[in-house]
Amino acid sequence: MTKIRKAVFPVAGLGSRFLPATKAQPKEMLPIVDKPLIQYAVEEAVAAGITDMVFITGRNKRAIEDHFDKAYELETELEAAGKARLLELVQNVIPKHINCIFIRQSEMLGLGHAVLCARPVVGDDPFAVLLADDFMDVAAGQKPVLAQMTDIFAAEKSSMLAVQDVPRADTKQYGIVSIDAYKTDLEKVNSIVEKPQPDQAPSTLAVVGRYVLTNGIFDCLEGLGKGAGGEIQLTDGIAALMKKERVLAYRYAGQRYDCGSKLGYLQATLAMGLKHPETGPEFAEYLKQFK
Ligand code: UTP
Repeated sequence: MTKIRKAVFPVAGLGSRFLPATKAQPKEMLPIVDKPLIQYAVEEAVAAGITDMVFITGRNKRAIEDHFDKAYELETELEAAGKARLLELVQNVIPKHINCIFIRQSEMLGLGHAVLCARPVVGDDPFAVLLADDFMDVAAGQKPVLAQMTDIFAAEKSSMLAVQDVPRADTKQYGIVSIDAYKTDLEKVNSIVEKPQPDQAPSTLAVVGRYVLTNGIFDCLEGLGKGAGGEIQLTDGIAALMKKERVLAYRYAGQRYDCGSKLGYLQATLAMGLKHPETGPEFAEYLKQFK
């Protein structure tokens, strides 16, 4: 099967870099202008033709389930108040043909463990993984990042990691790959290591929060012990997968904002505030005073 129909959203993390905002709500519900991060990620998956959204949730994540559910009280109130546009907005958070599936990761054992929790639902199919705090913006007319990857998967049929160059000082925040040349913007991964120190990193090519994986990853994750930071790491699962299958690294077209960090979140808010039809022109005018 080459068409990706399922996406996994690991959203069980602590979000400790955003405390206290994330004390009682998930970081994936932080809004960029007027939409939560998780909704942008789901829209990106929908744009890639994905129909089954599998959320790996944890404690304090109920807001995500509620966001993609019907909101009877709110809808009744909006209808009674004649607020048709807002009602439509609330009712169309997600298209009708999309299935949302929620799995609870009862212990935060790491991203690799979170992905493994999706196994009973994903089964034998290839699937996408989206980390919603990596917010991906593309230029007008450009395909969203995950759709770029699922298109390539249809031709290459190999697991694929979205990658970007990062400053060497930052390698310790990422999974870092070394590569062999393959095609323009698409390379073959020949090693991957989680959060290496800058002087030990094999390159400065970092894995960011978009993956397309074959189901072979599950067996690889199953047997893993704890890795960097005492967590079961997806990176270690991918390293094991590479011994069995080809894994590709894709230099996506687009701009990533690390919305798990305060600075990245502010940058994304600025960029999207300028693009938003309601706020853009006035916001641009307001910003002039800071030049
Ligand atoms: P992060 O490393 O960003 O951790 O996890 P975090 O807890 O979300 O945020 P900080 O670092 O404490 O601020 C990467 C992704 O893996 C998910 C997170 O929700 C995030 O999307 N994750 C991590 C899980 O779903 N389960 C885990 O056990 C760990």
